[in-house]
Amino acid sequence: KKITVSVIKADVGGFVGHSSVHPALLEKARGMLSGSSLLIDSYVGYVGDDIDLIMTHEQGRNNGEVHQLAWDIFIACTEIARKLKLYGAGQDLLADAFSGNVKGMGPGVAEMEFEERKSEPIIVFMADKTEPGAWNLPLYKMFADPFNTAGLVIDPNMHDGFLFEVRDLIENKRITFACPEEIYDMLVFIGAPGRYCIKRIFHRQSGDIAAASSTQRLNLMAGRYVGKDDPVCIVRCQSGMPAVGEALEPFAQPHLVSGWMRGSHSGPLMPVSMEQATPSRFDGPPRVVALGFQLAEGKLIGPRDFFADPAFDPARQKANELANYLRTLGPFEPHRLHLDEMEYTTMPQVSKKLKDRFEKLR
Ligand code: 13P
Ligand code: 13P
Ligand code: MG
Ligand code: MG
Ligand code: MG
Repeated sequence: KKITVSVIKADVGGFVGHSSVHPALLEKARGMLSGSSLLIDSYVGYVGDDIDLIMTHEQGRNNGEVHQLAWDIFIACTEIARKLKLYGAGQDLLADAFSGNVKGMGPGVAEMEFEERKSEPIIVFMADKTEPGAWNLPLYKMFADPFNTAGLVIDPNMHDGFLFEVRDLIENKRITFACPEEIYDMLVFIGAPGRYCIKRIFHRQSGDIAAASSTQRLNLMAGRYVGKDDPVCIVRCQSGMPAVGEALEPFAQPHLVSGWMRGSHSGPLMPVSMEQATPSRFDGPPRVVALGFQLAEGKLIGPRDFFADPAFDPARQKANELANYLRTLGPFEPHRLHLDEMEYTTMPQVSKKLKDRFEKLR
């Protein structure tokens, strides 16, 4: 019997501004999920202004009914958001009507289907004020860096490595790299996380799915800069996969990601507990939460709020120091993103206004 874990997320209105989700929306989502006979189990998570529906079922990936359920929940939550005049109500819902699959309609989706093992620990990572490529560096460390993951060296069941499916979000193409042999080739691409994203990772010996991320980039889908693409990622742990602590370890060093303030700035990804998942300073800094579950016949036993561990205090401290430094740069790159990457820009208007004052040089 195969179990599918589906994590479908959307920002359908922030409380207050882009900092959090109003409790009334979470309550609505919980009610609709627990009332559904489609699912084995569910949990409603959130980070910042993003609602994350964590669902288990036996319907497989890309199932129309499961996606419809998520869509209906986001629509119902949007109605409440409109009534409360929450900020950016319906922000991530690009389409007016559901058409069979939420992919391409705005919500982010990470899904994986597998035979549940004797023990099945999983981690759902959820981030705000960033983009799908934010997972590239931590996923690389978890599944390809022996200085992060001891198991790559000392666990006979991991020693053959992993396959990485990488998506080109601009040209809508994919390629699979076999690691460790192809890490240098792969890094050429995944080092550019605004364009190339690790979508899925497979255990090489068994072919089993090991990790799956959401790679939707709303700005590309909408053909204009909406760019609200705060991502999620599911990682299976232990027994041939990274140990739980190996999957968490990359976040002990906050890396810089895109998506802070107006989706147009770079900032450190700060690992936080659910209680601290409410970005406020300059609308950030960007945040990541890690919820752990043991699956038991598809039931979600948990969550454990991993980044509540004081062992991540130094990472938070460092993220705050990096944030302080980057803020001193104000409107200058690389704190402000490169022109092609910003969600907001006045460049066309200002250029138009000053058009006649630019003198051609020869
Ligand atoms: P325990 O000895 O606590 O079971 O931990 C085993 C382990 O491999 C941790 O990474
Ligand atoms: P979200 O992507 O979380 O909605 O944040 C957008 C923003 O502009 C924050 O300043
Ligand atoms: Mg928002
Ligand atoms: Mg958000
Ligand atoms: Mg965003």
